[in-house]
Amino acid sequence: MSLTIVLGTRPEIIKCAPVVHEALRRGVPCVIIHTGQHYTPELDEVFFRELDLPAPITNLNVGSLPPAKQVAAMMDRLYDAFLEWKPSVVVVQGDTNSVLAGALTAHKMGVPVAHLEAGLRSDDWGMPEEGNRVLAGNVADIHFCPTEVQRIRLATEGVLDGVHVVGNTVVDAARHYVGKAEGTSKVLETLNLEPGSFALLTMHRPSNVDEPGRLGALIDAIEDMAVSYGWKIVFPVHPRTETALKTAGLWDRLEASPVFVLSKPVGYLDLLHLQASASLVVTDSGGMQEEANILQVPCITLRANTERPETVKAGGNVLYEGTESAELIALAKEMTSKPRDWTCPFGDGRTAERVMDVLMTFLDTKV
Ligand code: UD1
Ligand code: UDP
Repeated sequence: MSLTIVLGTRPEIIKCAPVVHEALRRGVPCVIIHTGQHYTPELDEVFFRELDLPAPITNLNVGSLPPAKQVAAMMDRLYDAFLEWKPSVVVVQGDTNSVLAGALTAHKMGVPVAHLEAGLRSDDWGMPEEGNRVLAGNVADIHFCPTEVQRIRLATEGVLDGVHVVGNTVVDAARHYVGKAEGTSKVLETLNLEPGSFALLTMHRPSNVDEPGRLGALIDAIEDMAVSYGWKIVFPVHPRTETALKTAGLWDRLEASPVFVLSKPVGYLDLLHLQASASLVVTDSGGMQEEANILQVPCITLRANTERPETVKAGGNVLYEGTESAELIALAKEMTSKPRDWTCPFGDGRTAERVMDVLMTFLDTKV
């Protein structure tokens, strides 16, 4: 009997970590198969180290490829890995290409699939993630929904069996590590920052970074917002975004800017510490919309839609798809002026326990 986690990117490593730890705490054999979608140490190794995860039993080293080839290469290699490691159940988390490949390969090989973060929908099929999450969900046997919102959505799609509302493991991870981050992270000193003197920016969505005109307009508006509030903009840059900024001819300007503080992607502890110390989070990240909410830091999401509407409803997040400085400045004022009293919709930080309760019952009935 073995629980096999298939993962490949930064957010999957972070959000699967609580389940791996809970499985091992209970003595349930649990192994990780890494697709190799993320391979740069700052997007990969650092999280295994900081989150005390066991090394993957195998890394399929798929690397960066066009999406169809990447998913195909993952499936090809996962087939061999599943033959060798004989998973009793395959667990995938979220909506990346690794998730689609893991779910589809397991399904084709008759291995049950458990999907963490099931039922999220943006209804924006221009996002690569929307297809991944819908298709992975279609072949999943167990659906772990963060909130009632996803259970209801799955029900409207006819998915009624194997659905469990368990919260999101992002809460388990953030609550567990934020204290450690405050005690150990030196990122504020390294970047010469005072708490509250900066906004934290991350973006990596193709819709924001791949088109140079939009990327430049966003950078201009964010810079204007920072100047208007006297903030620095701390910007740990995803590799996709670094390439895009260089292609758009913006990199040198940002490096020379007195406003932007550029860095490589940072580890989880540094990122949590930066988030908790920021006046505002500006992002297109799914995980950071959730974490900002959990850490009670206001968030502006640079998108037209979100598959995390709970964060907006709670009051800690607002969507902005434009590139106008005045509008962004006004939104920043609105978000930073409100009391930080919103509640966390994603559970109590014991999601991994509930996930393991369900998986152990499932595994018992199979053996
Ligand atoms: C992927 C996921 C996205 C997730 C994000 C987390 C898909 C379709 N997208 O986006 O849902 O939010 O991970 O960060 O699965 N690169 C490196 N080093 C790496 C990985 C990538 O330099 O370790 C560069 C390569 O140039 C690559 C580009 O980043 O082409 C994009 O990588 P990819 O994994 O395709 O997508 P992400 O933008 O990382
Ligand atoms: N993160 C990190 N370092 C960074 C940027 C993000 O540790 O430099 C963490 C962040 O705390 C969150 C996760 O990575 O837990 C989000 O990943 P990402 O934004 O890449 O993907 P998404 O959540 O959008 O799928």
